[in-house]
Amino acid sequence: MAAEAQTAGSVAPRPRGASGTEGLSQREMDFPTVEDLRLRTRRRIPKFAFDFVAGGCGENLTVARNRAAFDAIEIVPRYGKGSLAVSTKVELFGQSYAAPLGMSPIGLGGIVWPRMEQHLARAAQAANVPYTLSTPASTAIETIGALAPDVFWFQLYAAPGDDFRISRDMMRRAERCGAKVLLVTIDTPVRAKRPQDMRNRLAVPFRPNLRTIFDIACHPAWLLEVARHGAPKCENFAAYAEAGASPDALAGLVQRELRGGFTWDAIRRLRDAWPRAMVVKGILDPRDAELALAAGADGIVVSNHGGRTFDGAPAAIDMLPAIKAVAGDATVLLDSGIRSGLDIVRTLALGAKAVMTGRPFLFGVGALGAPGGSHVLDILIEETRMAMGQIGASDLAEVAQAAVRHNNK
Ligand SMILES: Cc1cc2nc3c(=O)[nH]c(=O)nc-3n(C[C@H](O)[C@H](O)[C@H](O)COP(=O)(O)O)c2cc1C
Repeated sequence: MAAEAQTAGSVAPRPRGASGTEGLSQREMDFPTVEDLRLRTRRRIPKFAFDFVAGGCGENLTVARNRAAFDAIEIVPRYGKGSLAVSTKVELFGQSYAAPLGMSPIGLGGIVWPRMEQHLARAAQAANVPYTLSTPASTAIETIGALAPDVFWFQLYAAPGDDFRISRDMMRRAERCGAKVLLVTIDTPVRAKRPQDMRNRLAVPFRPNLRTIFDIACHPAWLLEVARHGAPKCENFAAYAEAGASPDALAGLVQRELRGGFTWDAIRRLRDAWPRAMVVKGILDPRDAELALAAGADGIVVSNHGGRTFDGAPAAIDMLPAIKAVAGDATVLLDSGIRSGLDIVRTLALGAKAVMTGRPFLFGVGALGAPGGSHVLDILIEETRMAMGQIGASDLAEVAQAAVRHNNK
């Protein structure tokens, strides 16, 4: 089905009868929304793993703020054009993609389901949408470069000890493996406090208590998969750790020292060292957007890290218009809270060129295993096309012209 999405860039929404369910697969009817996949994942994997990915930091206020902000955005539909042929095609940094939707970088996504990154990279390649590998991913750069040669983006955190040689080497590896875009994450200068992870004893080294052991035993499908493929580890650091470092030692190093706290000077250095498009991820203030562009970024990702770094942050979508106003010709992307095609259309109508999203893809694979990433793409792209057809926009340029009511304006 995801292969269809590649051509879906230019075809009309799938014809449906009045009930909207004719011709749907069992999977489409069982899991019609990202929320259905979230609920299925919650039942299918241990609580410590679900809480780690689904939750934010602090009291989850920013997570809730992201959702509430999207829900409050209205688009005034225009009619009279009949049933439109809709194109979701977008060009990002000189390359054409099937939809204005990329996969956000996720560290240790393998905790939800082993080989998470491979499953998602394959789905992204088949659908022709960007896949971003995170620095602390549980799959190596080289593996993803081979699986997703046309859609591979790489995300960079500052290396342990701010060792620029490690950053440079990772960038070289990503460049060799064909990464089109370097995403430099800036919104994690210090570690975030995540109380639910502490309560669940999710720390390095992992020391499960009796409750956690019982929790794991109650999820045999997950346990079997982990037994078959091994616990996730930060593959990209193996090359820089002391020879023979244990997975725990590696994870400890990453947890203690990996940061997304680059200075603007460091970003200028990265700019000089990276020959392709560079994007700064984690911008919420227009002044930081200006500094990122002045440091040589080709684009920015407006993001509050999905509410995982600062519980006092505004909803990313609420900051988009002010950032777009200072961005000039630079490419503005957004993530944090996207859960539907309607959210994608809302974001594009407020000025972003494309969106990214993280958790929906984790929930897809958590719920369905390998095919889960493609199913999420199908859901989000089909919903995007339906929303576009409804507001009278046949392409993304017309979505950008839509009348939006945001913050009661
Ligand atoms: C489990 C998890 C791990 C993440 N790891 C990273 C990471 O390694 N690097 C990064 O830049 N962002 C990371 N993020 C943030 C995502 O890239 C993205 O900004 C966020 O998930 C967007 O919000 P959404 O999940 O509501 O779509 C992570 C998010 C989650 C949920």
